[in-house]
Amino acid sequence: MSAKEKISNPLVALVIFLGIIAIAILTTILISRAGSHLDKSHEALIAYPKSGSTAPRGKTTARPQTPDVPATVPLRNVCESPECITLAHQLHNWADPSVDPCVNFYEYSCGKYNEHTVVEGTRSTKKGLIIQKLLREFLLRNRTTTSKSENTMQMLFNTCERLKDPEVFKNNTESVVKEVYKDIQSFGSWPLADPNWDASKFDLNEMLRNLAKHGRGENGLFEISTHYSPFLEVAPIDYRKKPAKSLKEFRYEYDSEKVKFSELEAKVPSIDLRKIIDNLMHPDKKSSIKSKVENRLVAFEHSLFFDKDMNLNKIIQSTSAQDLANFLIIYYIDTSGGALSMDEHFTMNRKCENEVIKFLPRASLRVFVRNYFDKENLKIVSEMVEETKQNFIEMIQESTWLHEETKKNAILKVEKMRKMIGYPEEFEKAGALDKTFETLNVFPTDSHYTIMNKIKRFVTEQTMEYVALETPLDPKEDVMEVNAFYVNDENYLNILVPFLDDPLFDSTYPTYAKLAGTGATLGHETGHGFDPWGITRDENGEKRDWWTPEDSEEYDRRVECMVEQYNEYDDPDFGKNLNGSYTKLEMVADGFGAETAWRAFKKLDLSREPEIIGFDEYSMEKLFFRIFALDYCTSRDTSTLEEVLERGHPTDSFRVNGVFSNMKAFAKTFNCPVGTPMNPEKKCELF
Ligand SMILES: *[C@@H]1O[C@H](CO)[C@@H](O)[C@H](O)[C@H]1NC(C)=O
Ligand SMILES: *[C@@H]1O[C@H](CO)[C@@H](O)[C@H](O)[C@H]1NC(C)=O
Ligand SMILES: *[C@@H]1O[C@H](CO)[C@@H](O)[C@H](O)[C@H]1NC(C)=O
Ligand SMILES: [Zn+2]
Repeated sequence: MSAKEKISNPLVALVIFLGIIAIAILTTILISRAGSHLDKSHEALIAYPKSGSTAPRGKTTARPQTPDVPATVPLRNVCESPECITLAHQLHNWADPSVDPCVNFYEYSCGKYNEHTVVEGTRSTKKGLIIQKLLREFLLRNRTTTSKSENTMQMLFNTCERLKDPEVFKNNTESVVKEVYKDIQSFGSWPLADPNWDASKFDLNEMLRNLAKHGRGENGLFEISTHYSPFLEVAPIDYRKKPAKSLKEFRYEYDSEKVKFSELEAKVPSIDLRKIIDNLMHPDKKSSIKSKVENRLVAFEHSLFFDKDMNLNKIIQSTSAQDLANFLIIYYIDTSGGALSMDEHFTMNRKCENEVIKFLPRASLRVFVRNYFDKENLKIVSEMVEETKQNFIEMIQESTWLHEETKKNAILKVEKMRKMIGYPEEFEKAGALDKTFETLNVFPTDSHYTIMNKIKRFVTEQTMEYVALETPLDPKEDVMEVNAFYVNDENYLNILVPFLDDPLFDSTYPTYAKLAGTGATLGHETGHGFDPWGITRDENGEKRDWWTPEDSEEYDRRVECMVEQYNEYDDPDFGKNLNGSYTKLEMVADGFGAETAWRAFKKLDLSREPEIIGFDEYSMEKLFFRIFALDYCTSRDTSTLEEVLERGHPTDSFRVNGVFSNMKAFAKTFNCPVGTPMNPEKKCELF
């Protein structure tokens, strides 16, 4: 977030805060002088194991101490940016120092979080809400600009808001019925509404093509769409929607075996899939992208098409034309938003800014980046990705059990891993995103339903260009999400802009703070390339077994260690009822994330690192673990056990306690005796 946006009101608080700090500094100096414990450096106040091999950071010697001249204030290297002050606030106020960090580090770091937040969830959840609020403010200003994408957002927002006026809503209800009906007639005749409906004139393929022309790749029978990579897939509707929270990382759980597209076509001879796909393309672009799209059609052996007894082709053949026509049209009404526009409760309560973000994510991101984001962050994080990869490679090289052959393949996979930091670089060029809006023309006189239909059609056409590799980002991708992810079949790491903004990341943060937060996330996403699914794919994301049998067995044993650890974990909200076999991918990624971030931390010259206000008596090693934990501080989880068991991620407390209890470096930093919960004798280590 740019400093400009927040200067007015936090400034007063900042001045007062700095005033208090200044007094505190002076008092500390005076007291230390009076006591003449001049040799007692800050290091001595930290509970380091005296004989431990952890080298004390060289800061004490680097700090100019001039004890003979009491009037001189020692040079302090403290981060005092507003973002660092927020970080200091979180470290101070969310912690519960009455808890022993060796017993429950999560509670020690996050125990008082609830006393400082009204948001259900983590600071990422809050960030998401703030972004929505900023977008809303921007849209409420209602400015006409020269940017087509911005104006489109504005018109969508305005028609959506306008519908909240009861009189407009009433008028709209009448007009939208007519509009929906007109669309339905363009698909073909509707038996329920047409007393002269003639079954002999019904052509299923024609109706499906007409729906496609309307931007409908999803038609009630199946869906034609992309899933986080530029391949067009024909699949059952919604089959990837569960579990929602970890959809992206779990896409392969639901995959059946990949088959040739022609094999799938052969299973549904009553449907001409290719013609339907043709109609999803913009008519002017069809000739240039058609063959490229056809090269990127994929199919899986879904039972909907491949089941011997109950498959789509049989369903179509055994269903009357009348039922098929009624079904497709009712499905359209149900999913078009036309019906929703007539639902008063829904219309009055919807958040129009969220509708804009959902349907125009790239345009929304452009507004956020231009108005509220410091692009310097992208550069820093891009470099951090390269460092993360380097550290990951070193971790592989230093593995005591992986054989050379496996190491070689693993290193190649890290080297070949691609990245997208925030958004594709192509969009950095002035006007680049707006250019993609050339084919979308909405007008202030358009109804909300019409605008939504035009946008859906546009998004579908854009999706086809994305499949043809003509545009670099899936137009449906929710790039405004506070998230990062790894795409398995492309060996591709993706970290989104909201994740790269304060308080999760800031350019003024000390490097160790950047590493403990974003650095660990980058390591986590890289680590997904080596989780139990990741290891089944090679450097190009292709399915290939590149492990020696012994290494593969040993790897499984090490993962099983984590599974058992989670099974036995006594969670504050869910007790010992968790099941690690559902969360092993994330636990493996978490382990790699913490390990690589710590490796990067160990390379820092801590004497040059700024301190965090109020933590100058706290070692930077300790701060590393404390800052890492902040991302997981959350309000009490009120989900049911069933819901938790469906998630791909372990619980937040485990993502801190479980991960750190496997790290010798943690136990050393906090001087935890062997046998304490945070320093168990049995540790699970991966590479
Ligand atoms: C937004 O601006 C347009 C054009 O300038 C105007 O017609 C419209 O009434 C405004 N809408 C609101 C809600 O202020
Ligand atoms: C609603 O429709 C009526 C009749 O067409 C029109 O007179 C009135 O101005 C409309 N109201 C609004 C708020 O658009
Ligand atoms: C966890 O789930 C797996 C897969 O459903 C099951 O086989 C296993 O018995 C469960 N483990 C525990 C400890 O409940
Ligand atoms: Zn993950």
